[in-house]
Amino acid sequence: MTRIGIHDLELATSHHVLDLGKLAEAQDIDPAKYRVGIGQDEMSILAPDEDIVTMGAAAAQPLLERHGQQEIRTLLFATESGVDQSKAAGLWVHQLLGLPAHVRVVEFKQACYSGTAALQAAIGMISRSPAERVLVIASDEARYELGSAGEPTQGAGAVAMLVSADPALVEIEPVSGVHTVDVDDFWRPNDSSTAVVDGALSIRAYLESVTGAWDDLAGRGSPDPATIERVVYHQPFTKMAVKAQRALSSRSGAQLPARGLQDASVYNRRLGNTYTASLYASLASLLDADPELAGSRIGMFSYGSGSVSELLTGIVQPGYWDADRAARVRKALDARVPLEVEEYRRLHARVLPSAVDVDNPRVTDGPFRFAGISGRARHYEATGG
Ligand code: COA
Repeated sequence: MTRIGIHDLELATSHHVLDLGKLAEAQDIDPAKYRVGIGQDEMSILAPDEDIVTMGAAAAQPLLERHGQQEIRTLLFATESGVDQSKAAGLWVHQLLGLPAHVRVVEFKQACYSGTAALQAAIGMISRSPAERVLVIASDEARYELGSAGEPTQGAGAVAMLVSADPALVEIEPVSGVHTVDVDDFWRPNDSSTAVVDGALSIRAYLESVTGAWDDLAGRGSPDPATIERVVYHQPFTKMAVKAQRALSSRSGAQLPARGLQDASVYNRRLGNTYTASLYASLASLLDADPELAGSRIGMFSYGSGSVSELLTGIVQPGYWDADRAARVRKALDARVPLEVEEYRRLHARVLPSAVDVDNPRVTDGPFRFAGISGRARHYEATGG
Protein backbone atom coordinates (compact mmCIF):
# COMPACT_ATOMS: atom_id res chain seq x y z
CA MET A 1 0.00 0.00 0.00
CA THR A 2 1.22 3.54 -0.79
CA ARG A 3 2.45 5.38 2.30
CA ILE A 4 0.81 8.83 2.37
CA GLY A 5 1.06 11.73 4.77
CA ILE A 6 2.52 15.15 5.55
CA HIS A 7 5.60 15.76 3.44
CA ASP A 8 6.33 19.27 4.71
CA LEU A 9 4.59 21.95 6.74
CA GLU A 10 5.01 25.61 7.54
CA LEU A 11 3.38 27.95 10.05
CA ALA A 12 2.53 31.64 9.66
CA THR A 13 0.92 34.09 12.05
CA SER A 14 -0.05 37.72 12.46
CA HIS A 15 1.78 41.04 12.64
CA HIS A 16 0.64 41.83 16.20
CA VAL A 17 0.59 40.08 19.57
CA LEU A 18 -1.15 40.80 22.87
CA ASP A 19 0.41 39.61 26.12
CA LEU A 20 -2.30 38.03 28.26
CA GLY A 21 -0.69 39.50 31.38
CA LYS A 22 -1.60 42.95 30.02
CA LEU A 23 -5.16 41.81 29.27
CA ALA A 24 -5.51 40.34 32.78
CA GLU A 25 -4.24 43.58 34.30
CA ALA A 26 -6.73 45.66 32.29
CA GLN A 27 -9.53 43.32 33.38
CA ASP A 28 -8.37 43.25 37.03
CA ILE A 29 -7.96 39.46 36.84
CA ASP A 30 -5.12 37.37 38.32
CA PRO A 31 -2.77 36.69 35.34
CA ALA A 32 -2.28 33.16 36.71
CA LYS A 33 -5.83 32.38 35.58
CA TYR A 34 -4.67 32.81 31.98
CA ARG A 35 -1.08 31.55 32.23
CA VAL A 36 -1.81 28.57 34.52
CA GLY A 37 -5.59 28.12 34.62
CA ILE A 38 -6.14 28.01 30.85
CA GLY A 39 -2.45 27.69 29.85
CA GLN A 40 -2.09 30.67 27.51
CA ASP A 41 0.61 33.38 27.47
CA GLU A 42 -0.09 35.46 24.35
CA MET A 43 -2.50 35.79 21.47
CA SER A 44 -1.71 36.68 17.87
CA ILE A 45 -3.74 39.62 16.59
CA LEU A 46 -4.19 40.50 12.92
CA ALA A 47 -3.21 43.89 11.52
CA PRO A 48 -5.94 45.66 9.48
CA ASP A 49 -4.33 44.43 6.24
CA GLU A 50 -4.13 40.77 7.27
CA ASP A 51 -6.68 37.95 7.32
CA ILE A 52 -6.94 34.20 6.78
CA VAL A 53 -5.93 34.60 3.12
CA THR A 54 -2.70 36.50 3.79
CA MET A 55 -1.68 34.12 6.59
CA GLY A 56 -2.55 31.06 4.48
CA ALA A 57 -0.56 32.33 1.49
CA ALA A 58 2.38 33.25 3.74
CA ALA A 59 2.42 29.71 5.19
CA ALA A 60 2.17 28.04 1.77
CA GLN A 61 4.74 30.13 -0.11
CA PRO A 62 7.86 28.52 1.44
CA LEU A 63 6.48 25.04 0.66
CA LEU A 64 6.28 25.94 -3.03
CA GLU A 65 9.76 27.46 -2.89
CA ARG A 66 11.16 24.25 -1.40
CA HIS A 67 9.26 21.69 -3.46
CA GLY A 68 7.98 23.46 -6.58
CA GLN A 69 4.37 23.35 -7.70
CA GLN A 70 4.54 20.82 -10.54
CA GLU A 71 2.67 17.90 -8.96
CA ILE A 72 0.06 20.03 -7.16
CA ARG A 73 -3.40 19.73 -8.71
CA THR A 74 -5.49 20.58 -5.63
CA LEU A 75 -5.51 23.30 -2.96
CA LEU A 76 -7.82 22.61 -0.02
CA PHE A 77 -8.42 25.60 2.29
CA ALA A 78 -9.87 24.80 5.71
CA THR A 79 -11.27 27.59 7.87
CA GLU A 80 -13.91 28.50 10.42
CA SER A 81 -13.45 32.23 9.78
CA GLY A 82 -14.32 32.32 6.08
CA VAL A 83 -14.30 35.75 4.43
CA ASP A 84 -16.98 35.06 1.82
CA GLN A 85 -20.14 32.96 1.77
CA SER A 86 -19.46 31.70 -1.75
CA LYS A 87 -15.88 32.14 -2.94
CA ALA A 88 -13.24 29.86 -1.44
CA ALA A 89 -10.52 31.83 0.40
CA GLY A 90 -8.04 29.54 -1.35
CA LEU A 91 -8.79 31.21 -4.70
CA TRP A 92 -7.03 34.38 -3.58
CA VAL A 93 -4.13 32.21 -2.36
CA HIS A 94 -4.08 30.52 -5.78
CA GLN A 95 -3.65 33.94 -7.40
CA LEU A 96 -1.13 35.28 -4.85
CA LEU A 97 1.08 32.20 -5.23
CA GLY A 98 0.80 32.13 -9.04
CA LEU A 99 -0.64 28.62 -9.14
CA PRO A 100 -1.68 27.40 -12.59
CA ALA A 101 -5.27 27.04 -13.83
CA HIS A 102 -5.14 23.24 -13.58
CA VAL A 103 -5.08 23.45 -9.74
CA ARG A 104 -8.61 23.05 -8.32
CA VAL A 105 -9.51 24.98 -5.16
CA VAL A 106 -12.20 24.38 -2.56
CA GLU A 107 -12.95 25.48 1.02
CA PHE A 108 -13.73 23.06 3.86
CA LYS A 109 -15.87 24.00 6.87
CA GLN A 110 -16.69 22.23 10.14
CA ALA A 111 -15.44 24.50 12.92
CA CYS A 112 -11.92 23.50 14.02
CA TYR A 113 -12.15 20.00 12.52
CA SER A 114 -12.06 20.88 8.82
CA GLY A 115 -8.24 20.89 8.48
CA THR A 116 -8.39 17.19 9.26
CA ALA A 117 -11.22 16.63 6.76
CA ALA A 118 -9.03 18.36 4.16
CA LEU A 119 -6.05 16.18 5.11
CA GLN A 120 -8.17 13.03 4.75
CA ALA A 121 -9.54 14.21 1.39
CA ALA A 122 -5.99 14.88 0.24
CA ILE A 123 -4.92 11.38 1.28
CA GLY A 124 -7.87 9.93 -0.66
CA MET A 125 -6.89 11.84 -3.82
CA ILE A 126 -3.26 10.76 -3.56
CA SER A 127 -4.18 7.13 -3.02
CA ARG A 128 -5.86 7.27 -6.46
CA SER A 129 -3.07 9.30 -8.12
CA PRO A 130 0.12 8.77 -6.09
CA ALA A 131 2.21 11.13 -8.23
CA GLU A 132 0.00 14.10 -7.29
CA ARG A 133 0.52 16.34 -4.28
CA VAL A 134 -2.17 18.31 -2.44
CA LEU A 135 -1.64 21.67 -0.75
CA VAL A 136 -3.73 21.80 2.44
CA ILE A 137 -4.02 25.15 4.20
CA ALA A 138 -5.69 25.59 7.60
CA SER A 139 -6.02 29.27 8.50
CA ASP A 140 -8.12 31.02 11.11
CA GLU A 141 -8.68 34.05 13.27
CA ALA A 142 -10.36 33.16 16.59
CA ARG A 143 -12.61 36.02 17.71
CA TYR A 144 -14.92 36.29 20.69
CA GLU A 145 -16.76 39.28 22.15
CA LEU A 146 -14.73 41.62 24.33
CA GLY A 147 -15.37 40.87 27.99
CA SER A 148 -16.61 37.33 27.28
CA ALA A 149 -15.07 34.22 28.86
CA GLY A 150 -13.70 33.27 25.43
CA GLU A 151 -11.78 36.57 24.98
CA PRO A 152 -8.40 35.32 26.36
CA THR A 153 -8.61 32.31 24.03
CA GLN A 154 -8.51 34.32 20.79
CA GLY A 155 -5.60 34.03 18.35
CA ALA A 156 -4.60 33.84 14.69
CA GLY A 157 -2.46 31.58 12.56
CA ALA A 158 -2.17 29.32 9.56
CA VAL A 159 -0.48 26.01 8.85
CA ALA A 160 0.16 24.91 5.27
CA MET A 161 0.90 21.24 4.60
CA LEU A 162 2.13 19.53 1.48
CA VAL A 163 0.47 16.10 1.44
CA SER A 164 2.09 13.41 -0.69
CA ALA A 165 3.09 9.77 -1.11
CA ASP A 166 6.34 8.77 0.67
CA PRO A 167 6.09 11.73 3.06
CA ALA A 168 9.18 13.13 4.76
CA LEU A 169 7.50 14.21 8.03
CA VAL A 170 4.59 12.03 9.18
CA GLU A 171 2.96 9.05 7.49
CA ILE A 172 -0.76 8.99 8.36
CA GLU A 173 -1.97 5.47 9.11
CA PRO A 174 -5.11 4.26 7.31
CA VAL A 175 -7.37 3.54 10.31
CA SER A 176 -8.82 6.42 12.34
CA GLY A 177 -11.55 6.86 14.97
CA VAL A 178 -14.45 9.26 14.34
CA HIS A 179 -17.05 10.70 16.73
CA THR A 180 -19.86 12.95 15.50
CA VAL A 181 -22.73 14.39 17.55
CA ASP A 182 -25.00 17.44 17.10
CA VAL A 183 -24.25 19.83 20.00
CA ASP A 184 -24.50 23.63 20.39
CA ASP A 185 -21.19 24.20 22.16
CA PHE A 186 -19.68 26.74 19.74
CA TRP A 187 -20.80 28.28 16.47
CA ARG A 188 -20.68 31.56 14.52
CA PRO A 189 -23.99 32.83 13.07
CA ASN A 190 -23.84 34.28 9.54
CA ASP A 191 -24.40 37.84 10.81
CA SER A 192 -21.71 37.70 13.51
CA SER A 193 -17.97 38.40 13.33
CA THR A 194 -17.46 36.70 16.69
CA ALA A 195 -18.14 33.12 17.74
CA VAL A 196 -20.73 32.11 20.33
CA VAL A 197 -19.39 29.61 22.84
CA ASP A 198 -20.69 27.75 25.87
CA GLY A 199 -17.26 27.09 27.39
CA ALA A 200 -18.25 24.49 29.99
CA LEU A 201 -20.34 22.56 27.44
CA SER A 202 -17.52 22.72 24.89
CA ILE A 203 -15.10 21.17 27.39
CA ARG A 204 -17.55 18.36 28.19
CA ALA A 205 -18.32 17.76 24.50
CA TYR A 206 -14.59 17.72 23.66
CA LEU A 207 -13.80 15.18 26.39
CA GLU A 208 -16.69 12.91 25.37
CA SER A 209 -15.37 13.11 21.81
CA VAL A 210 -11.85 12.06 22.83
CA THR A 211 -13.14 8.86 24.40
CA GLY A 212 -15.77 8.36 21.67
CA ALA A 213 -13.14 8.65 18.92
CA TRP A 214 -10.84 6.28 20.84
CA ASP A 215 -13.67 3.72 21.17
CA ASP A 216 -14.29 3.91 17.41
CA LEU A 217 -10.59 3.54 16.68
CA ALA A 218 -10.30 0.59 19.08
CA GLY A 219 -13.31 -1.08 17.41
CA ARG A 220 -11.67 -0.71 14.00
CA GLY A 221 -8.38 -2.30 15.02
CA SER A 222 -6.41 0.54 16.58
CA PRO A 223 -2.68 0.15 17.08
CA ASP A 224 -1.69 -1.24 20.49
CA PRO A 225 -2.03 1.77 22.88
CA ALA A 226 1.39 0.86 24.34
CA THR A 227 2.94 1.80 20.96
CA ILE A 228 1.52 5.37 20.95
CA GLU A 229 4.34 7.54 22.28
CA ARG A 230 2.86 11.03 22.01
CA VAL A 231 -0.54 12.55 21.23
CA VAL A 232 -1.09 16.03 19.82
CA TYR A 233 -4.49 17.69 20.37
CA HIS A 234 -6.62 20.48 19.01
CA GLN A 235 -5.98 23.23 21.57
CA PRO A 236 -8.62 25.96 22.01
CA PHE A 237 -6.39 26.70 25.04
CA THR A 238 -3.47 24.49 26.03
CA LYS A 239 -5.03 23.33 29.33
CA MET A 240 -7.62 21.54 27.17
CA ALA A 241 -4.88 19.18 25.96
CA VAL A 242 -4.00 18.35 29.57
CA LYS A 243 -7.64 17.45 30.29
CA ALA A 244 -7.89 15.47 27.03
CA GLN A 245 -4.71 13.50 27.68
CA ARG A 246 -6.03 12.51 31.12
CA ALA A 247 -9.29 11.25 29.55
CA LEU A 248 -7.55 9.45 26.69
CA SER A 249 -4.95 7.75 28.92
CA SER A 250 -7.56 6.45 31.31
CA ARG A 251 -9.83 5.17 28.49
CA SER A 252 -7.11 3.61 26.30
CA GLY A 253 -4.47 2.62 28.83
CA ALA A 254 -1.81 4.46 26.77
CA GLN A 255 1.11 5.70 28.92
CA LEU A 256 1.55 9.23 27.57
CA PRO A 257 4.38 11.31 29.06
CA ALA A 258 3.74 14.89 30.26
CA ARG A 259 6.81 15.98 28.28
CA GLY A 260 4.95 15.36 25.03
CA LEU A 261 2.18 17.72 26.13
CA GLN A 262 4.63 20.48 26.97
CA ASP A 263 6.52 20.08 23.69
CA ALA A 264 3.26 20.09 21.73
CA SER A 265 1.93 23.31 23.23
CA VAL A 266 4.93 25.67 22.96
CA TYR A 267 3.55 27.36 19.80
CA ASN A 268 -0.10 27.18 20.90
CA ARG A 269 0.62 28.99 24.19
CA ARG A 270 1.94 31.90 22.12
CA LEU A 271 -0.44 31.87 19.13
CA GLY A 272 -3.73 31.47 21.01
CA ASN A 273 -6.50 29.47 19.38
CA THR A 274 -6.04 29.07 15.65
CA TYR A 275 -9.14 26.87 15.16
CA THR A 276 -8.44 24.65 12.09
CA ALA A 277 -4.69 25.24 12.35
CA SER A 278 -4.45 24.54 16.08
CA LEU A 279 -3.87 20.76 15.90
CA TYR A 280 -1.26 21.19 13.15
CA ALA A 281 0.47 24.05 15.02
CA SER A 282 0.68 21.60 17.93
CA LEU A 283 2.13 18.94 15.63
CA ALA A 284 4.75 21.44 14.41
CA SER A 285 5.49 22.35 18.02
CA LEU A 286 6.09 18.70 18.94
CA LEU A 287 8.25 17.95 15.88
CA ASP A 288 10.32 21.10 16.46
CA ALA A 289 10.88 20.43 20.17
CA ASP A 290 12.07 16.83 20.17
CA PRO A 291 14.86 15.50 17.89
CA GLU A 292 14.31 11.90 19.09
CA LEU A 293 10.94 11.15 17.53
CA ALA A 294 11.95 9.33 14.32
CA GLY A 295 9.98 6.09 14.01
CA SER A 296 7.58 7.03 16.83
CA ARG A 297 3.85 6.45 16.53
CA ILE A 298 1.92 9.59 17.47
CA GLY A 299 -1.80 10.20 17.91
CA MET A 300 -3.47 13.34 16.50
CA PHE A 301 -6.83 14.35 17.98
CA SER A 302 -8.92 16.78 15.96
CA TYR A 303 -12.09 18.36 17.46
CA GLY A 304 -14.49 20.74 15.73
CA SER A 305 -17.38 22.00 17.82
CA GLY A 306 -20.83 21.22 16.71
CA SER A 307 -19.28 18.52 16.66
CA VAL A 308 -17.05 16.24 14.58
CA SER A 309 -13.84 14.75 15.92
CA GLU A 310 -11.26 12.30 14.64
CA LEU A 311 -8.32 10.50 16.20
CA LEU A 312 -5.59 9.74 13.68
CA THR A 313 -2.31 7.97 14.20
CA GLY A 314 0.89 8.60 12.29
CA ILE A 315 4.51 7.49 12.15
CA VAL A 316 7.18 10.19 12.39
CA GLN A 317 9.57 9.73 9.47
CA PRO A 318 13.38 9.42 9.77
CA GLY A 319 14.30 12.81 8.25
CA TYR A 320 11.66 14.89 10.06
CA TRP A 321 14.04 16.90 12.28
CA ASP A 322 14.72 20.41 10.95
CA ALA A 323 16.27 22.91 13.34
CA ASP A 324 15.73 25.65 10.73
CA ARG A 325 11.94 25.19 10.84
CA ALA A 326 11.95 25.65 14.63
CA ALA A 327 14.12 28.77 14.25
CA ARG A 328 11.77 30.22 11.61
CA VAL A 329 8.70 29.76 13.80
CA ARG A 330 10.44 31.25 16.84
CA LYS A 331 11.55 34.22 14.72
CA ALA A 332 8.00 34.79 13.43
CA LEU A 333 6.57 34.63 16.96
CA ASP A 334 9.26 36.92 18.37
CA ALA A 335 8.86 39.41 15.51
CA ARG A 336 5.22 40.15 16.28
CA VAL A 337 4.65 43.76 17.31
CA PRO A 338 3.18 44.01 20.84
CA LEU A 339 -0.10 45.86 21.29
CA GLU A 340 -1.37 47.79 24.29
CA VAL A 341 -4.85 46.74 25.42
CA GLU A 342 -6.52 49.93 24.11
CA GLU A 343 -4.99 49.44 20.63
CA TYR A 344 -6.10 45.79 20.64
CA ARG A 345 -9.64 46.80 21.57
CA ARG A 346 -9.71 49.37 18.73
CA LEU A 347 -8.55 46.72 16.25
CA HIS A 348 -11.11 44.23 17.56
CA ALA A 349 -13.92 46.72 16.94
CA ARG A 350 -12.86 47.21 13.30
CA VAL A 351 -15.24 45.03 11.28
CA LEU A 352 -15.45 45.98 7.59
CA PRO A 353 -18.88 46.14 5.96
CA SER A 354 -18.62 44.77 2.41
CA ALA A 355 -20.82 47.56 0.97
CA VAL A 356 -18.25 50.31 1.63
CA ASP A 357 -15.06 50.68 -0.41
CA VAL A 358 -11.96 50.73 1.81
CA ASP A 359 -8.19 51.02 1.34
CA ASN A 360 -6.55 49.25 4.25
CA PRO A 361 -3.56 51.00 5.85
CA ARG A 362 -0.16 49.38 5.17
CA VAL A 363 0.86 47.69 8.39
CA THR A 364 1.91 44.08 7.89
CA ASP A 365 5.54 43.07 7.26
CA GLY A 366 4.32 39.76 5.81
CA PRO A 367 4.68 38.79 2.13
CA PHE A 368 0.99 39.41 1.31
CA ARG A 369 -1.59 41.97 2.37
CA PHE A 370 -5.33 42.46 2.28
CA ALA A 371 -5.35 45.71 0.29
CA GLY A 372 -9.03 46.54 0.69
CA ILE A 373 -12.54 46.27 -0.70
CA SER A 374 -13.95 47.84 -3.84
CA GLY A 375 -17.20 47.08 -5.59
CA ARG A 376 -17.90 44.68 -2.66
CA ALA A 377 -14.93 42.47 -3.70
CA ARG A 378 -11.83 41.86 -1.59
CA HIS A 379 -8.40 42.64 -3.04
CA TYR A 380 -5.01 41.26 -2.07
CA GLU A 381 -1.45 42.02 -3.13
CA ALA A 382 2.12 40.86 -2.63
CA THR A 383 4.13 43.31 -0.51
CA GLY A 384 7.54 42.39 -1.89
CA GLY A 385 8.52 41.76 1.75
N1 COA B 1 -4.81 30.82 39.12
C1 COA B 1 -4.71 29.61 38.52
N2 COA B 1 -5.78 29.00 37.93
C2 COA B 1 -6.96 29.65 37.95
C3 COA B 1 -7.11 30.91 38.57
C4 COA B 1 -5.96 31.51 39.17
N3 COA B 1 -6.01 32.70 39.76
N4 COA B 1 -8.39 31.30 38.39
C5 COA B 1 -9.03 30.32 37.72
N5 COA B 1 -8.16 29.32 37.47
C6 COA B 1 -8.41 28.07 36.71
C7 COA B 1 -9.72 27.38 37.07
O1 COA B 1 -9.59 26.57 38.22
C8 COA B 1 -9.96 26.57 35.82
O2 COA B 1 -9.15 25.44 35.79
P1 COA B 1 -9.77 23.98 35.51
O3 COA B 1 -10.52 24.06 34.21
O4 COA B 1 -8.59 23.08 35.44
O5 COA B 1 -10.69 23.70 36.66
C9 COA B 1 -9.44 27.50 34.70
O6 COA B 1 -8.56 28.44 35.35
C10 COA B 1 -10.53 28.29 33.97
O7 COA B 1 -11.32 28.92 34.95
P2 COA B 1 -12.88 29.15 34.70
O8 COA B 1 -13.44 29.78 35.90
O9 COA B 1 -13.49 27.88 34.21
O10 COA B 1 -12.78 30.21 33.51
P3 COA B 1 -13.88 30.82 32.58
O11 COA B 1 -15.25 30.70 33.12
O12 COA B 1 -13.37 32.20 32.31
O13 COA B 1 -13.83 29.93 31.23
C11 COA B 1 -13.01 28.82 29.30
C12 COA B 1 -12.67 29.36 30.70
C13 COA B 1 -11.79 28.08 28.77
C14 COA B 1 -14.20 27.87 29.39
C15 COA B 1 -13.32 30.03 28.38
O14 COA B 1 -12.16 30.77 28.19
C16 COA B 1 -13.89 29.63 27.03
O15 COA B 1 -15.08 29.46 26.88
N6 COA B 1 -13.01 29.53 26.01
C17 COA B 1 -13.39 29.10 24.70
C18 COA B 1 -13.46 27.59 24.66
C19 COA B 1 -13.55 27.10 23.26
O16 COA B 1 -12.94 27.65 22.40
N7 COA B 1 -14.33 26.06 23.03
C20 COA B 1 -14.62 25.64 21.67
C21 COA B 1 -13.67 24.80 21.03
S1 COA B 1 -13.20 23.37 21.89
